[in-house]
Amino acid sequence: MGSIRSKLVVVGVGHVGSQVLNCAASLKLFSEIVAIDKIESKAKGEALDISHFTSSDYINNVNIRSGGYEECKDADIIIISAGPSIMPNKDIKKLDRLALASQNVPVMKEIISSITKYTKDAVIIIITNPLDVMVYYAQNFFGYSKNKIFGTGTSLDSARFKRIIADKYNVDPKSVQGYMMGEHGNSAFPAWSLLRIAGISYDDLDKYFNPKEHLDCDNVASEVVEVAYSVLNMKGYTNSGIAMAACRLAEAVLLNERTILPVSSTLEGEYGLRDVALSIPTIIGKNGIEKRIQVPLSDDEINKLKESAESVLKTIKSVGL
Ligand code: 2OP
Repeated sequence: MGSIRSKLVVVGVGHVGSQVLNCAASLKLFSEIVAIDKIESKAKGEALDISHFTSSDYINNVNIRSGGYEECKDADIIIISAGPSIMPNKDIKKLDRLALASQNVPVMKEIISSITKYTKDAVIIIITNPLDVMVYYAQNFFGYSKNKIFGTGTSLDSARFKRIIADKYNVDPKSVQGYMMGEHGNSAFPAWSLLRIAGISYDDLDKYFNPKEHLDCDNVASEVVEVAYSVLNMKGYTNSGIAMAACRLAEAVLLNERTILPVSSTLEGEYGLRDVALSIPTIIGKNGIEKRIQVPLSDDEINKLKESAESVLKTIKSVGL
């Protein structure tokens, strides 16, 4: 029997990247995991720490180490979590991932240029913010196959949305089907017309699940966006939700699952939009993006998607892309 080999490279192992290492090791998906960081001792320390984590009975014996970009040569998946993140701020209105664009474009330039010296084959999953601007840049300026680069996008916002809805109706979030769409950021919105619990749509949910109070759509929409800032302001950063979102996507690629999740990629005419990256439901399989699905949306939702596109586009232009 041949050996099963699967290799993950994580670029940037700060709060988010180190949690990605943890999560990836726990999911038992990879036989090799490599941590890259501009602070070499940090990458070494994280790898060493996780090598002790993986000697437990519960986790498979992953070969985890630190290394340089040459490790990308035979990687199956590369997750990019490098670059400064948003800092806590008591004034929630001042928090906006888009403000990180000018700082993180050069970071992304260095990373993608370094990766492409060694591979054109790995599927690259981007976490760095502002997510949609980073995805647009990485997909369109380095000659890498477009389907092989995408961003976690609103898969994280959708996990938050499902948690909030599930708690209101007192069910498991996995039994909620629903999507946040658009920018991973302040203009993300819930596609209410697609929300289902056990096949039941929004209008009938109260009848079947007797919530304590009627669900207020506007409140939930802002709660999903603001809950990220609550975590940020309480613990100083967010890392668990995003690390799981990235690892779930890595799993869908590695196992060629053709799972449908909202991820960020450059649209090519969907909803009349192009040359801007945003999240819409997308089939994820061994080639990365297998197909974006132009799901039916209400007129109001299409308008929200267009507003979201405007907001991302403005930032893309502001940094000269
Ligand atoms: C998050 O939403 C900050 O983008 C990061 O958790």
